[in-house]
Amino acid sequence: MIARRVREAHVYSEIVPHTMSAADMLSRDPVALIVSGGPSSVYEEGAPTVDQEVFEAGVPLLGICYGHQLLARALGGAVEKTGLREYGRTEAEIVDPGAVLDGSPATQTVWMSHGDTVNRAPEGFTVGAKTAGSPVAAIEDRDRRMVGVQWHPEVRHTPLGQDLLENFLYRVAGIDPDWTNEGVIDEQVTRIRDRVGDGRAICGLSGGVDSAVVAALVQKAIGDRLTCIFVDHGLLRAGEAEQVERDFVEATGVRLVVRDARRRFLDALKGLVDPEDKRKAIGREFIREFEEAAREVASDGVGDVRFLVQGTVYPDVVESGGGVGAASIKSHHNVGGLPDDLQFDLIEPLRTLFKDEVRAVGIELGLPEAMVWRHPFPGPGLAIRIIGEVTEERLEVLRAADLIVREELMAADLDREIWQCPVVLLADVRSVGVQGDDRTYGYPVMLRPVSSEDAMTADWYRVPHEVLARISTRITNEVTEVNRVALDVTSKPPGTIEWE
Ligand code: XMP
Repeated sequence: MIARRVREAHVYSEIVPHTMSAADMLSRDPVALIVSGGPSSVYEEGAPTVDQEVFEAGVPLLGICYGHQLLARALGGAVEKTGLREYGRTEAEIVDPGAVLDGSPATQTVWMSHGDTVNRAPEGFTVGAKTAGSPVAAIEDRDRRMVGVQWHPEVRHTPLGQDLLENFLYRVAGIDPDWTNEGVIDEQVTRIRDRVGDGRAICGLSGGVDSAVVAALVQKAIGDRLTCIFVDHGLLRAGEAEQVERDFVEATGVRLVVRDARRRFLDALKGLVDPEDKRKAIGREFIREFEEAAREVASDGVGDVRFLVQGTVYPDVVESGGGVGAASIKSHHNVGGLPDDLQFDLIEPLRTLFKDEVRAVGIELGLPEAMVWRHPFPGPGLAIRIIGEVTEERLEVLRAADLIVREELMAADLDREIWQCPVVLLADVRSVGVQGDDRTYGYPVMLRPVSSEDAMTADWYRVPHEVLARISTRITNEVTEVNRVALDVTSKPPGTIEWE
């Protein structure tokens, strides 16, 4: 989140693990460092830390929360183990704004989440703010260009947090806000051309934003030496396969091979109800199908295919260990682990970008808006939104209900505010209803609208009642198999976004 906020301030940023040595960090020539962390105690056994030299390298540095405590301790301040926790919205009193809190009102609301407390600033630092539980909630040393804050400026619950980050970047560290992702396309096109030379590449399209954008980018670089493969597993939502086969090809002129694998996937899913069994079956069939397609493309006599293009984005990189310490919850597959006998060199030009940046690149490349603004959708598709066995009929029911939800959210102008809204068919549950004079015995569907910034955490989105009412009326009228519409009001954690 911090890295994203820094980019929103037009300064390029990357996340590195705290275990990286100071020498490695400094060899990347950072213009500033931000040290952050969760609510651990700096005194705990095995508590995460960073090399002392990080604080002595003369590079502008901002410590946030746990990083504030590390900074204070490293430079001779005092951190007290109070055993008390200060959590949630807190009022901070600004005692000396310095550069980093310049422009702040005398008090501001900040988001806190910590146990230990800094109670003496290191020598040379002035105390900028205090709260009821933190006598030294912000510190600054203009000469050494170092700042620490106990609260989290990166979260929306700290309304003036972005100002603080920008003050640090522009005024304390003296960085010009000149990074944009406009340069990304030209830079990547050149790089891809250099790398691929006159070779060929393939790319799996999922219908999602990331793979569409990466394919369009590589197509711009190497034209029809890129072949895209779209495995239609029959688990997409209404209209999405057509979007790939027709609209995407129209917008990009990409060379596309479509594999109709609907039967294959349905057969593989027959009798499976356990979520992990379903995921595994889909992963396995996907790899087989993709492998066959890749072999066919490679044996068309036009030349070897050496490169595989993947739409890996920055959060994937961080989640899969790029930022050690953040535990990963579910392993997501892109094209899945491809077998060893299919050896490709990977091209992943979106590796450094966040979702909103990927979208911006997509728009610039001229992709259809409906595709670029599509909500995130899981690789295993509707199969993990049918609780119970996946069958053709159930897929039809879910597709119909899902389409209504999408139409109504769009009509209410909510689709860009909502991160995603899975519609889940509880296919093994039936309930009694009444329709006209007839008794019905139908399925319930569950709506799961969430707001989120990165899918790591989420809150249930408060969809206005009248929109919910329209969705409910339409689904129960138009989808005869469904006679009940329910709303999931669980945040993540504890619930995940998807039900399986
Ligand atoms: P959860 O359910 O873990 O979902 O809260 C977080 C985000 O990831 C998406 N998701 C997946 N995406 N393959 C994917 O490509 C998967 O197997 C998968 N499972 C969940 C989910 O839609 C949400 O955006």
